[in-house]
This record gives sequence, structure tokens and C-alpha cells, in this order.
Amino acid sequence: MFFDRPASGEVSILVHISIDSESEREDPTEFEELAISAGAMPVDFITGSRKQPSSTYFVGSGKLEEIQAAVLAHSAELVLFNHSLSPSQERNLEQQLECRVLDRTGLILDIFAQRARSHEGKMQVELAQLQHMSTRLKRGWTHLDRQKGGIGMRGAGEKQLELDQRMIGQRIKSINKSLKKVRGQRDQGRRSRKRAEVATVSLVGYTNAGKSSLFNQLTHAEIYAADQLFATLDSTLRRINLPNFGPAIIADTVGFISHLPHQLVEAFRATLEETVQANLLLHVVDAAHENHQDFIGDVDEVLHEIGASSVEQLMVMNKIDLMPGYEPRIQRGENGRPERVWVSAKTGAGLDLLQQAVSELLAGSIAEETVRISPSYARIRSQLYEKGLIESEEVDEDGCYLLLLRMPSQDLQRLLLEDGVELVDAEAPSELEIASAPETVELPANKLVETELESEPRENVL
Ligand code: GTP
Repeated sequence: MFFDRPASGEVSILVHISIDSESEREDPTEFEELAISAGAMPVDFITGSRKQPSSTYFVGSGKLEEIQAAVLAHSAELVLFNHSLSPSQERNLEQQLECRVLDRTGLILDIFAQRARSHEGKMQVELAQLQHMSTRLKRGWTHLDRQKGGIGMRGAGEKQLELDQRMIGQRIKSINKSLKKVRGQRDQGRRSRKRAEVATVSLVGYTNAGKSSLFNQLTHAEIYAADQLFATLDSTLRRINLPNFGPAIIADTVGFISHLPHQLVEAFRATLEETVQANLLLHVVDAAHENHQDFIGDVDEVLHEIGASSVEQLMVMNKIDLMPGYEPRIQRGENGRPERVWVSAKTGAGLDLLQQAVSELLAGSIAEETVRISPSYARIRSQLYEKGLIESEEVDEDGCYLLLLRMPSQDLQRLLLEDGVELVDAEAPSELEIASAPETVELPANKLVETELESEPRENVL
């Protein structure tokens, strides 16, 4: 099998073996795209099937000979496996094939290393690479390529061979320290956004779904949108003004992929934290892709892994310009809430509907309620003032503060768990009447959230 050859690239042999126990895994077409994305020039694609991987070479001896013949025939520099290889399998293969061998995790890490843009993104990738490599220091063939670099040798890879295990340990420590600092700064940024009570919308989706294109369209920004996988590695934040809602922050995030190496989920958790904290997720789907249903499942799986599965989602069915007969529209659920919006980020069709749906959902997530705070908890009142959440204030006969608050519903529910804070029943005739008969105030919402949010740490309340 031959491919369109990019102008340059490492001459590579691709290997995909169907293993009985992982039959649904790792789509070979995507593997080819990944390899090209990394800058490889694939010249041959060797496939096969096995009941179980062999512990020495992953493949059996016949397949190994076939790969060896292909390496010789094409003078290949690299053999890429669409699987995770153990360090010893990788080493044995390199020795046998006299050529560098890289597994799927190494390949994805390499792409991440090429694409990381911010200082933090680069550090996260380097950390993941070091962790991946620390078990693979003794290689079979790589030493010959030491000066050349290449796929799997960028970022931390370039330095890796110079370092021994101990030094890698030290480097990991120092990166972790720097990352902690950078994350602290980002947390501060997030806190000040919270203080300003700007709703946050986070774009998530399978790689190449069109997140950056949509982000650009919505913010009129020029973010690099390339027909390459993982064009976006660092979450990017912009402020937008939504008609009928007002200002909101929109965050672009890294593209998800099935079977994301676990250390990458770990490494990128911080970047994806934006997602966990968002008021709304826009789950962008390449609706024109035949496997889009699988991709939706893969993205949901990662969202679950990073603890974002409870954040409300609006599905953005993108690329309808490639789907004859599809018109932009909002698809609503039984409760009338928008569930899917059909759009094209390329032509701009349906983006007005998307903004409308986002505004509707965000408006529902902001609560405006009156709470009563007893005078001995004035500390909470001053915190609410500091955050600019108080719209108006009265004091009742008992000296309790009656505060009209406007804030995200989730935060209000947390606030109501605090001692000394009660929700004032909106149905009640007047605030003064309530104030004179405090025992009649019902607190249904309070009871409800108490059971749901019991385990929430109190420090996060404000
Ligand atoms: P990652 O950074 O890999 O996660 O990708 P992404 O989801 O940010 O996708 P991106 O916006 O980079 O778009 C990927 C490719 O799809 C680019 O070639 C875009 O031009 C193309 N694309 C995006 N939206 C549309 C669309 O509505 N219609 C068509 N035809 N192509 C689109």
C-alpha cells in the first residue's frame, strides 16, 4: 500500500496487527493520519492478525521477517507500531530490525511535542515524554540516531539519551515544580474570572472536529487551524459577547483521541481543568465523519476521566456543508432545552443559532435569588461583596442581611450549604414579612443540595 508522499519526512514502515482481544481498537486509517501528522513518510503498511501479542517482538517470526524485508527494501529509518509496546519489545525489535521503532504512545507524544505552543504545554509534554522514556533508556538502535533527531526524538527526546535515570528523575521534579507555579498563576486567573462572574464555555471534541475553526468564527480570532491532528494543544481563552446574554469566556481545548495514552490524560488534566470548571461544554462533532458516533463516545469517556461528565453539554454537529440536505437548526430535547445545533464552522451557517442556544443554556445556569445571612456571619456577606455578586441589600428586623444575589446556580447551591445562609422563598409575600416570621421560611433547595453536595469541600464554596 502506498501513500501520497509529503515533500519530506522520515521514511517509515507502519505496522498494524489486529489482536483478537482488542479488535475494536486503533483504527488503521487514523494511524496513517497520525504518522503523517508527525511528519513521517509512510512507504509501506504491514497488517496482520494475532490472537495475542508475542512477548518478545509483539509480532510473530514470519511477520518480523516481512517487516525486516520492507525496512531493507525501502531503506526505512523508522518502524511505527499502532500499539503500545513494552520497553523490551521495542528494544528487541530495534535490535532485530536495525532501525528505530516507535509505538503509538511515543508517536502521539511526539506530535504533542511538535504542537505544544505555550510554555506550560511544552512542559506538560516533556513531563509525559520523560515518564514514558524513563523505562526505555536502553534502546537497541536509537544510539545510532542520536545526533539526527527525528520522530520520537523531539522535545524531551532530543535530550533523553544524554540523561541517565537519576537525571531524568531530577528533571521530572523540576518540571513538576515549574508546572505547579504556572498552574497557580492560571488558577488565579480563573478565580478572578469567577469573581467577575463571567460564564465560561469550553469547546471539547475529537481531534479535527473543527473546534479551532469554530472558536475563530465565534471570536473572530486567528487561531492556527490546520488539517493536521492535534493542531491545538493549549487551551486558549477569549471573551465573547453573546446576544441576549452578555459577556462569556470561551475556551478552546486540546483535541481528544481514542485511547489517549494515560500519562497524557494526566499531563493534560491541568489544561482540561478549564473544561471541568466550565458552565457549559460545546461538544464539537465532525458530523460528516462516518465514525462520529464512536468519537462522541471516546470524548465522553475522557470527559468522565477528567471529572467533567456532569457539566452540561451542547452538541455542535459541525461540517454540515459536507452533508447534502442538512440545514442549520437547533434540535431540542423533550424539556425544550437545546441539545444539538447543526452548523458549519467553515461557511458560518448556523452560528447565529449556536449563539442563541448557548445564551439560552447559560441564562438557565445563572440564578438570581435572595438569601438571608444572620449578622454573626457577616464574613460571608463581605466575601460576596468582594466578588461583586450582590445586586441589592436590605436588613430585616432581626438585623439579618437580605441579599439579592446573581451568580451561577452551582455556586449558589454551594453557598446555601454554609451555616448562617438561607434561601428566602421567592413565593413569600414580602421580605419584611419573611423577616418577621423566620421559622416559616421553607428551604427546599437547601435540603436538596445538601444530599447532593455533601462531599464538596467547604473551602471551595466562596
Ligand atoms: P484539533 O486541534 O486537532 O483538535 O482540531 P480541531 O477540532 O480544532 O479542528 P480544526 O478547527 O483545526 O479543523 C480541522 C479541519 O477541519 C480543518 O481543515 C478545517 O478547515 C476543517 N473544518 C472545520 N470546520 C469545518 C466545516 O464546517 N466544514 C468543512 N468542510 N471543514 C471544516
